[in-house]
Amino acid sequence: MLRTRGLSKSFSGFPAVNEVDLSIRRGSVHALVGPNGAGKTTLFNLLTGFLKPSSGVIELDGHDVTGMRPEQIAQRGVARSFQITSLFEELTLREHVELALQGRDGQGHRFWSSEKSLRRYREETDHLLAEVDLASQAETPAGSLAYGQKRALELALALALSPRLLLLDEPTAGMGVEDVARTIDLIQRVRQDRTVVLVEHNMKVVGDLTDQVTVLQFGKILAEGPYEQVRNDPRVITAYLGESVA
Ligand SMILES: Nc1ncnc2c1ncn2[C@@H]1O[C@H](COP(=O)(O)OP(=O)(O)O)[C@@H](O)[C@H]1O
Ligand SMILES: [Mg+2]
Repeated sequence: MLRTRGLSKSFSGFPAVNEVDLSIRRGSVHALVGPNGAGKTTLFNLLTGFLKPSSGVIELDGHDVTGMRPEQIAQRGVARSFQITSLFEELTLREHVELALQGRDGQGHRFWSSEKSLRRYREETDHLLAEVDLASQAETPAGSLAYGQKRALELALALALSPRLLLLDEPTAGMGVEDVARTIDLIQRVRQDRTVVLVEHNMKVVGDLTDQVTVLQFGKILAEGPYEQVRNDPRVITAYLGESVA
């Protein structure tokens, strides 16, 4: 579904992503792992158009999308979540999802105020909030949610774009065991009919969810394969040990 060739991004001469050839199979859940600073978030920013590559090619469904703007890539069915939570404390969950749907459809105010479209968006919002187990909190301001629920709301906002390819940057970061388990269930549910790429440090999550793992180090692919294979790879073990003693 997605393929990069020689994809590189440098910041003032520093190669954050360096000649990466990545292939994401349609329908898979694919993990990107690697020590802090390996280039995972930069790679996400390149794949979603938030950064322009220094060199290399990105193909989506066989079409060259290199250098396209974020909204053009989103229109082709790619949505992402961010590593940092980015919600409006005072807006309700319903308002958040409705804004995301409005952004997706690019409809003006007049369309939105018609009786029929209001009803349709209300139903779609209820459905999306139910999908992430937040249906009962639709009228609650986002600021009063627990941390795990905020991350679930962000997932709903990405789903509101009806993505075929969903990119999740550290979806379980900062979560306790219970929220991690709930997030694994959520991702299992939303992966139906979709392709999912996630940056993830929690190896239980990687082991439970993923078909394929790519390990990045210093902006390059260090190892790749099914989880069981990659986790026993001596180069991968060394990369992680290297981080813990650094
Ligand atoms: N906008 C930027 N300007 C300069 N350096 C950056 C920028 N974004 C990331 N970097 C650097 O690129 C490297 C990779 O960062 P990042 O992609 O965030 O890593 P990861 O997500 O794997 O922890 C780091 O050394 C980081 O400091
Ligand atoms: Mg990161």
